[in-house]
Amino acid sequence: MTSPEAPRTALVVGASGITGSAIVSQLLEEGGWRILALSRRAPAAHPQVEHVAADLRDADDLARALGGTGVTHVFFTAWSRQDTEAENIRVNGGMVRDLLAALSTEPVQHVALVTGLKHYLGPFEAYAAGEMPDTPFHEDEERLDTPNFYYEQEDELFAAAARAGFTWSVHRSHTVIGHAVGNAMNMASTLAVQAALCKRLDRPFVFPGSETQWNGLTDMTDAGLLAEQMLWAASSPAGADEAFNIVNGDVFRWRWMWPRLAAHLGVEPEGFDTEPRPLEQQMAGVEGTWVELVAEHGLVEADLSRVASWWHTDGDLGRDIEVVTDMSKSRLAGFTGYRRTLDAFTAIFDRLREERIVP
Ligand SMILES: NC(=O)c1ccc[n+]([C@@H]2O[C@H](COP(=O)([O-])OP(=O)(O)OC[C@H]3O[C@@H](n4cnc5c(N)ncnc54)[C@H](OP(=O)(O)O)[C@@H]3O)[C@@H](O)[C@H]2O)c1
Repeated sequence: MTSPEAPRTALVVGASGITGSAIVSQLLEEGGWRILALSRRAPAAHPQVEHVAADLRDADDLARALGGTGVTHVFFTAWSRQDTEAENIRVNGGMVRDLLAALSTEPVQHVALVTGLKHYLGPFEAYAAGEMPDTPFHEDEERLDTPNFYYEQEDELFAAAARAGFTWSVHRSHTVIGHAVGNAMNMASTLAVQAALCKRLDRPFVFPGSETQWNGLTDMTDAGLLAEQMLWAASSPAGADEAFNIVNGDVFRWRWMWPRLAAHLGVEPEGFDTEPRPLEQQMAGVEGTWVELVAEHGLVEADLSRVASWWHTDGDLGRDIEVVTDMSKSRLAGFTGYRRTLDAFTAIFDRLREERIVP
């Protein structure tokens, strides 16, 4: 708990998202924080969380919403998916720049920015194009030659930190699994919804990805662990002015994981066979079946696109490259959080059931 003479005000930017909502939960659990939650949509209501409704693409709106708020710590987890990486750079770099400009008169001490392993892999439109660093990925790799919105966000962060004198941290996550509805990329709810539809349609639960992903070693990031690392970096001298990878700490092969997820979800698993079988194709035309399932089981979200992001799971599991991440840097700096990925998945599946998001 913080002392009364040093009140801390956290601004969670993107608080309705998969990472932002995990940070809000972690701040509540830790205690001692005033919590401001910025997004356009209201996040889950909580008496200790103040929603700041503002549009990150509107600098005037940000100045209006944030002036005089007394923000001391910023957790930047927002992003807005665009059609090209050039647009991603313009829009997502601009959101970091304008947010930090709107806070220029506030007593900001630390800004933590979440990015991802596309720092090492390149953007969606150029995955693994050009020279990729060797696995496991280490934080001190040179940037790729390919344009990347994460680099732009980092540069905006570094420039604002140099101007204003706050410390910063960057958190590079692999695929994030956590709890969110209506967000852009959500592998855990995508797989839970795939399973519900397979069960209903009497189909096997078919792995959508590549042979490389099926057989190779990989890792994953639990949103709660990512939140823990961001709070650690924001509060610990060893976390200041550094970029950190963040994955659960175990490694697994999808050929091991898939049947275990299927068993928990009550479906018949089917592994890689000859070619990837993307969910965009497997699940084409199932919107009506989802609406039937929602009606029959009294589920809360009838819009399939708000609970399943087929494109993203296809992209991550379809990669024809090995993706494994080194965690030594933050462990040696003092962050020793850990998750077993199978447990992280099943905990999210159970919560999705409890909240009537899946049957
Ligand atoms: N999810 C993954 O698997 C994954 C994996 C690796 C890296 N990452 C990276 O992690 C970062 C965070 O991603 P995420 O998946 O946590 O995001 P997310 O769940 O899609 O959430 C995005 C958040 O940004 C907010 N937002 C978007 N546009 C906004 C605007 N104009 N004004 C105000 N708020 C806005 C959204 O709220 P409203 O829409 O309500 O405004 C939402 O709260 C991104 O850089 C992403 O690339 C994610």
